[in-house]
Amino acid sequence: MAIGEYKPGLEGVPATQSNISYVDGKAGLLEYRGIRIEELCVHSSFLETSYLLIFGELPTSAKLKEFEVDITHRRRIKYRIRDMIKSFPDNAHPMDALQTSVAALGMFYPLGDFHDADYIYQATVRLLAKVPTMVAAFHMMRQGNDPVMPRDDLDYASNFLYMLNEKVPDPLAARIFDVCLTLHAEHTVNASTFAALVTASTLTDPYAVITSAIGTLAGPLHGGANEQVMMMLEEIGSVDNVTAYLERKIERKEKLMGFGHRIYKVKDPRAIVLQELVHKMFDQFGHDHYYDIALELEKQAFEKLSSKGIHPNVDFYSGLVYKKLGIPSNLFTTIFAIARVPGWLAHWKEQLSDNRLFRPTQVYTGLHDVTYLPIEHR
Ligand code: CMC
Repeated sequence: MAIGEYKPGLEGVPATQSNISYVDGKAGLLEYRGIRIEELCVHSSFLETSYLLIFGELPTSAKLKEFEVDITHRRRIKYRIRDMIKSFPDNAHPMDALQTSVAALGMFYPLGDFHDADYIYQATVRLLAKVPTMVAAFHMMRQGNDPVMPRDDLDYASNFLYMLNEKVPDPLAARIFDVCLTLHAEHTVNASTFAALVTASTLTDPYAVITSAIGTLAGPLHGGANEQVMMMLEEIGSVDNVTAYLERKIERKEKLMGFGHRIYKVKDPRAIVLQELVHKMFDQFGHDHYYDIALELEKQAFEKLSSKGIHPNVDFYSGLVYKKLGIPSNLFTTIFAIARVPGWLAHWKEQLSDNRLFRPTQVYTGLHDVTYLPIEHR
């Protein structure tokens, strides 16, 4: 392979054919199965959107009910998983805890037949159901508390928020959180989805697929950026410090967290919706001065970086919503993971429908015919 054919980061290289989602990075457009996310955020729910992504069409009300009930009834985790999570270090990062928990889950459910629609369905509802429970269980147990049992009378978003502190959330807060999940549910062949595809292509089990994806999402260039954004806003501390902070970052050629995207060269449409959700949260539950810092940073960054196509991405405003919900910042990326499970599963299913092992090539830059040098001569 010629060096000229090599694209670092596989930029612009199609890795698959897919009809799950579509991004137009110049127009700032994101569609799931052809439906714009703005529309889904108003009219749909996270579980309905999950169904749409995974099964390719909007469910009838009977199908949606069945899907919701199946997920609700599988929220509990086995005591052995709970005990394992309890043994994790209290200061472990929640993404590491989640990745390990999902890998462990796979040991309890043997690999099935990929041609069996029921096997696919059961694995799908199990992962959607149990990932939030495992996140919340680690969060409670790292504080020395017992995990909070899921409540069947609560919807997906409300139940997750409830399991974090044993308080039933305000309905508006839960609805806003559900919209956040919908916004993060899918995003074409990003790094974690690509990891999921590569893993899926070996025909390993779905728990290994999701484990790979979670490990990939955790990094600060991907889903880990939402936690980093909060740390950045805390470091800036006040609106008056924005100019100096930005100048320092640009001078040192350091990246601003929550800015920039491989595909979007305009403001990420998810960031626009998230900003509206921030306003809704603040109208109802009070203002947060970190938002003023974020706004000033966006304004000043626009002057300095927009010519390069660098604008706020999905991770810039999400943390402000989660913070207002009382969620600690080191759980932010696990929320991204909870939300992205349907996207990863949709791609897993799509990959299985027309599988070929991923096995790219490389441009070799090493030596040839090197003589082995005995250790005493080195
Ligand atoms: N702040 C300042 N400069 C930036 C940023 C940023 N956040 N992002 C890109 N650039 C500059 C970069 O320095 C480079 O400039 P130059 O050409 O002068 O060297 C140019 O833009 C291209 O950057 P790149 O790193 O080659 O672009 P990429 O497509 O590989 O990177 C990215 C995409 C998301 C990794 C990058 O924008 C970044 O690191 N952003 C910060 C982390 C972040 O917010 N990640 C979340 C991404 S969105 C949600 C998700 O995927 O999870």
